[in-house]
Amino acid sequence: MPLIRPSVAALTPYTPGEQPRVPGLIKLNTNENPYPPSPRVGEVLKSFAAERLRLYPDPVATELRAAIAELHGCAIENVFAGNGSDETLALCTRAFVPPGGAVGCFEPSYSLYPVLAAIADVPTRRVALTDSFEWVTPDPGLAPLFFLTTPNAPTGMLYPRAALEAFCESFRGVVLLDEAYADFAPENGMEFAVRYPNVLVSRTLSKSYSLAGIRLGYAIGAAPLIEAMFKIKDSYNLDALTQAIGLAAIRDQAWMQANAAKIIATRERVTRELEKRGWGVRPSATNFVFAKPSGRSAAELFDHLRAKAILVRHFPGPRTGDFLRITIGTDEQMDALLAAF
Ligand SMILES: Cc1ncc(COP(=O)(O)O)c(C=O)c1O
Repeated sequence: MPLIRPSVAALTPYTPGEQPRVPGLIKLNTNENPYPPSPRVGEVLKSFAAERLRLYPDPVATELRAAIAELHGCAIENVFAGNGSDETLALCTRAFVPPGGAVGCFEPSYSLYPVLAAIADVPTRRVALTDSFEWVTPDPGLAPLFFLTTPNAPTGMLYPRAALEAFCESFRGVVLLDEAYADFAPENGMEFAVRYPNVLVSRTLSKSYSLAGIRLGYAIGAAPLIEAMFKIKDSYNLDALTQAIGLAAIRDQAWMQANAAKIIATRERVTRELEKRGWGVRPSATNFVFAKPSGRSAAELFDHLRAKAILVRHFPGPRTGDFLRITIGTDEQMDALLAAF
C-alpha cells in the first residue's frame, strides 16, 4: 500500500517567488508593497498584551469581519476571513468542487489554481486568453468552480466589465473573482458578489495593505457560499494577533489608499520609461508590470538584473517566457532598475 496519496505523490507543488536574504537586494519579484503598513499596525504590536495569547482566538473573527462588512456595505454573514487568500482559494476547491468535478481558470493566470485542483484530485480546465492576453468567454458549464484573477496576474490586465458581468451571470458553477490587486485598479467586481448568488470576490491584505507577513485575506459573497466555507475551515484559522492587526489596517483606509496612489503613479511613470526604451508593456491595473524587453531576451535580462541584486520574476513557458513581471517598488528602486538596463 503506498504511504503517500497518489495525487500528492504526483503533485508538482506551487513555487512561491524567492525570498533571498541578500543585503541591499531590490526585491521586485513577489508583488509586495514597498511602503510600510499603517502606523496603527505598529501601535497594535506595541500594545498587544502577551496575556491575550493564553486564550484561543475568536474562531469566526467577528470584529474583523464586521469592519470588512462595513467597508463593503454588506452583512457580516457575507464575509469570510482566512489565512491569506490562498486559504480562501483552497477552501473553495474543497467546498464547491465535488469528486469527479474540475476547476476552471484562464491561461495564463495565478499558477496556484492548478495546484489546488491537483490537491483535490480533479483536473484543471484551462481557458486560453487571446495572444495579447485579452478576454475569452468560458463555457458556462465548464466546471463547478472557476478561478478568475481580475485584474489578471501575471499580465496585470483588467477585463471588460460587461464581459465579466455577463460571465458571472451565465456561469453555472461558482465564480471566484480573485481581486488580489483590485486596490490598484480603476474598477472592481465587488458589486457582482452582492448581486449574484454564485459569485465570490476574494481580497488580500498582502499587497495594498503591506501585510504579506501576517497572512490575511477575505472573501465576500452570498451567505450560503460563505457558510459552506466556514463549515470546513480550521477551527482557529486566524490567530488573535492577525485579527487585531487586520482590524487596525482595515480601519485605516486613508493610509492604504495613499500608498496605492503612490504605486499607481510610479507604475505609470515606469510604463512610459519602458515604452521609451522599446519595451512592450501590457496595460497594468495592478502593482506590477508585465513587459517584453527590447533587444534582449527576458531570461537573459532576468539573469543580468539578478547579478546586480535586482530580483524580478520570469515565468518560463510558451505564453509568458518572453516577458518579465516587475513589481512596482519605490521611485528610487525603480530608478535603480531603469539604470541597470
Ligand atoms: C492573483 C493572486 N491571488 C492570490 C495571491 C495570494 O495572496 P495571499 O498572500 O493573500 O495568500 C496572490 C499572490 O501573489 C495573487 O497574485
